[in-house]
Amino acid sequence: MSSTQTHRTFNLGDRAVNRLGYGAMQLAGPGVFGPPKDREAALAVLREAVASGVDHIDTSDFYGPHVTNQIIREALAPYAKDLVIVTKIGARRSDTGAWLPAFSPDELKQAVHDNLRNLGLEVLDVVNLRIMFDVHGPAEGSIEAPLTALAEIQRQGLVRHVGLSNVTPAQIAEGRGICRIACVQNQYNLVYRHDDALIDDLARDGIPYVPFFPLGGFTPLQSSGLSDVAQRLGATPMQVALAWLLRRSPNILLIPGTSSVGHLRENLAAAKLELPADAIDALDRIAAADAA
Ligand SMILES: NC(=O)c1ccc[n+]([C@@H]2O[C@H](COP(=O)([O-])OP(=O)(O)OC[C@H]3O[C@@H](n4cnc5c(N)ncnc54)[C@H](OP(=O)(O)O)[C@@H]3O)[C@@H](O)[C@H]2O)c1
Repeated sequence: MSSTQTHRTFNLGDRAVNRLGYGAMQLAGPGVFGPPKDREAALAVLREAVASGVDHIDTSDFYGPHVTNQIIREALAPYAKDLVIVTKIGARRSDTGAWLPAFSPDELKQAVHDNLRNLGLEVLDVVNLRIMFDVHGPAEGSIEAPLTALAEIQRQGLVRHVGLSNVTPAQIAEGRGICRIACVQNQYNLVYRHDDALIDDLARDGIPYVPFFPLGGFTPLQSSGLSDVAQRLGATPMQVALAWLLRRSPNILLIPGTSSVGHLRENLAAAKLELPADAIDALDRIAAADAA
């Protein structure tokens, strides 16, 4: 087993969290819009996550909108002292569910207050500024204005830690000149590895990297190579994809999303999955083939 896989926790803000957390986006309705089909099932997933040791939940008030945070509050408040809830601001939803930028100072302030109210908190642990120059991926441009506005909200005491999402290395460097950056959340998984160098740079500085779409997102990863490795190890492809991320770098914190208790249990069990060297080689070849 790689030495990196032996690290069970990593610091997020001022607390060490388990490297396998939970992403709550899947708890809203279809297209992350409106209520879920089965609210009781959504509550059960959250309660099972925390009962199983999850102490890091990723959310946003623009999931639903409002719905996901309200479900988190109903399921988990009053919150366990060791639970770190990370939210994100910088976007809003149109009447039809489209994702729109919302990073004027007033919109950011409103978003912080929406998160506080719907989560039932007086202070938010970690707030990621979700950059929306391109909704689908990082795009260059200065983040000085919105990040300065968020840093001001932090100084007022409503936010403990500030992170960045959907950002380029240049934007992270710019951000670190404005305030302490507690974490970075970008798209990354076994086959989508644009941030390989960035992950290593952040690891050197002790900054957590939190990949979104760790299982591939709305269409989970499908690869015969991944399935072969999983079969050989007596695991599922999703468990292997998560185990690979845990092993990739000690600063990676995982927030796989699911609306199912069964999938949640399966995903959390990935923390115990050991990947032999030949499995890692095979998995690395999948990414190389994908990039070619
Ligand atoms: N910063 C950003 O811009 C951004 C963007 C997207 C997401 N996020 C965050 O990242 C978190 C993770 O991303 P995500 O939920 O979109 O994608 P993901 O974790 O890559 O995958 C979720 C998908 O995989 C399925 N799934 C989960 N476990 C499975 C299993 N064991 N077997 C088979 N299918 C499984 C889920 O369906 P079921 O519900 O049926 O299990 C769902 O369709 C989100 O919850 C959100 O908090 C952030």
